[in-house]
Amino acid sequence: MKDKKITTATTVAGVKFDSCVCNASGVKCTTLEELREIGRSDSCAIVMKSSTMEEIHWDDGPRSYYLGEHGMVQSNGLQNLGYETYVAFSKKLIKYGKPIIASVAGSSIDANVTMVTAYQKSTVDLIEVNISCPNIPGKSQVGYDSKQTEELLFALLNLGCKPMGLKLPPYFDPAHWDSMSELILRYNISFITCINSIGNVLVIDPWERRTVIKPKKGYAGLCGEWLEYIANANIRAFYDRLEGKVSIFGVGGVKDGISAFTKILAGADALQVGNAFRQGDHKIFSTIDQQLEGMLEFHGFSSIQEAKGQLLYI
Ligand SMILES: Cc1cc2nc3c(=O)[nH]c(=O)nc-3n(C[C@H](O)[C@H](O)[C@H](O)COP(=O)(O)O)c2cc1C
Repeated sequence: MKDKKITTATTVAGVKFDSCVCNASGVKCTTLEELREIGRSDSCAIVMKSSTMEEIHWDDGPRSYYLGEHGMVQSNGLQNLGYETYVAFSKKLIKYGKPIIASVAGSSIDANVTMVTAYQKSTVDLIEVNISCPNIPGKSQVGYDSKQTEELLFALLNLGCKPMGLKLPPYFDPAHWDSMSELILRYNISFITCINSIGNVLVIDPWERRTVIKPKKGYAGLCGEWLEYIANANIRAFYDRLEGKVSIFGVGGVKDGISAFTKILAGADALQVGNAFRQGDHKIFSTIDQQLEGMLEFHGFSSIQEAKGQLLYI
C-alpha cells in the first residue's frame, strides 16, 4: 500500500488545485496582508472576503463571540474594503501561483451584476456569489427564497467565462435541496460552496443576563464544529442531485483530517476552513491536508477523485 502515491490534488469547476484545503471567505482574508499570508501558507487557494460595492466598516461591537475552541457566533456585517480593492488585490496575489477566489455579496441584483462583471475581467480564477449572508439587518438570505435566487441567476447569466459558484446557506428539508438543485443545473452554476454559517442563532450570557453580540439584538451566525453534520447532509444532498455536473466545496466544522474526509465521502471536491483557521493559525491547512492523506491511505484510496462520494450505507 505504501508505494501507492497518494495525492490530495483536486479540481473545482475545471480549475486545478495542488491540494484540497483552503480558507473560507470571511476569516482573516479582508486585507492585502491577510491575503498575502494565505498566499504564503499551504492553503490550496486564496479565498477573499465577500465584497460589496462600497467599503463597509462598523465601529460597534462585539460582533463575534467564541464558544470555546469548538466554534463561534459572529455578525461581521460584511465588513470589507469594497470590490474594486479586491479586483486590484487579485493582481498582486497571482505571484503565489494558486487559484484566487473572489466572493460577491451585493445588496441588489444590479450590485451583483456589476461586481461579477468586474471579477470576470480580473485575474481571479473562480467567483463565489454569496447568497447566504445572515448578518444584514432587515435583509433575508436570498438563498432561502427560490424566486429571488432565480432572478439573480438569470441576471448573472453570460457575464463571462470564469466559473461562477454559489455560497449556499444550510438547508434542512429535501424540498429546498430539490428546488435549489433544479436552479443550479438550469443556470449552469459551476460550483457550490456549502455551507455558510447557520444564521440567526441567539447566544445568551446567563450571568450577565444579556446577549453576547451587539447588532440585530444578538442574533448571529453560528460557525464551527456544530455545523459539521449539517454541512455533511447538505453536501450529500446536493451531490446526489447534481449529477456530477457541479463541483462542491465542503465547509462547516472542518477542523482535522477526519472531518475533512467525511466531507469528501459525502461528495465534496475540496474543503474550506473557517472557525478552525480563525482560532488557529496558517499551519491548519497543511495539518488537515496531511491527516486527510492518512485517511485516504487507511481506506485504500489514492486520490480525492477516488474517494469522492464513496459513502457506504448500512
Ligand atoms: C468571522 C467570520 C466571517 C465570515 N464572513 C463570511 C463572508 O464574508 N462570506 C462568506 O461567504 N462566509 C463568511 N463566513 C462563513 C464562513 O465562510 C463559513 O461558511 C462558516 O464559518 C462555516 O465554516 P466553519 O465551521 O469552518 O467556520 C464567515 C465566518 C466567520 C467565522
